[in-house]
Amino acid sequence: MEVLIFPDALSLARKSADLVESQIKAFPDSVIGLATGSTPLGLYEELIMRHAEHDLSFAQVKTFNLDEYVGIPSNHPQSYRTFMDKNLFNRIDIDQSNTQVPDGMAENPLATGPAYEKMIEDSGGIDLQILGVGTDGHIGFNEPTSSLGSITRVKTLTQQTIEDNSRFFSPNEFQPKLAITMGIKTILDARRILLLAHGENKSNAIRDMIEGPLAAFCPASALQLHQRTTILVDEAAASKLSLKGYYKFVGEMQDELVRKHRPSDWISR
Ligand code: F6R
Repeated sequence: MEVLIFPDALSLARKSADLVESQIKAFPDSVIGLATGSTPLGLYEELIMRHAEHDLSFAQVKTFNLDEYVGIPSNHPQSYRTFMDKNLFNRIDIDQSNTQVPDGMAENPLATGPAYEKMIEDSGGIDLQILGVGTDGHIGFNEPTSSLGSITRVKTLTQQTIEDNSRFFSPNEFQPKLAITMGIKTILDARRILLLAHGENKSNAIRDMIEGPLAAFCPASALQLHQRTTILVDEAAASKLSLKGYYKFVGEMQDELVRKHRPSDWISR
């Protein structure tokens, strides 16, 4: 795992946008896996700005979102489809028909997983997957003890996740307890992964993911198996890492190697 530590959330968002931009510039028809939640908002704002001011085009990009709540329609204010339209898709030149979010209102939610997997496969697979991480170490909605070999399916959310996300729902509003989520295997199949995290409340999950054992109890630890994962964290999220100094040293050595020997090896396909 490559671990990059930034002084604040803004510099982290800018670096993640640099990486997404180089992917799209190298392969304009890239397939990008997307996350919702507070974490990627800075990245999305940067991409919108680069689209408006620097000609970054998403015209040929295809996207697959990680997850969607079961039981609320796509036009519901709290659906992940609404989130993506509002915070990214409606503000860039992406073709809406190239954007996929699991269908939380499918007649049989249990049947949606294999169909979603097939769509990803038919698109050629995910080139670059953007991830956040839950305070309990979930990625997508793969909650603790999710199978490390799982594919897209319905998952029951933990009380912790329901509480973490209750800030988006009014007190008496229906809040979903189920979600359709890409599985851990689906995520690991992406050619390149960027996981972003900021804030002290993510520090335990970040420590367990990077320095803890590979364990279904911390689903994000499965990324230890992935060859091309970059973790971008701010100082607060990195505060419980015991090898923090080493990760910074690796970053410096890596920069030197890249400067000397190759422009960049990180673009995928
Ligand atoms: C969202 C998702 C979740 C979030 C995680 C962190 O599509 O898959 O895994 O990335 O719950 O959420 P925030 O960013 O709101 O802290």
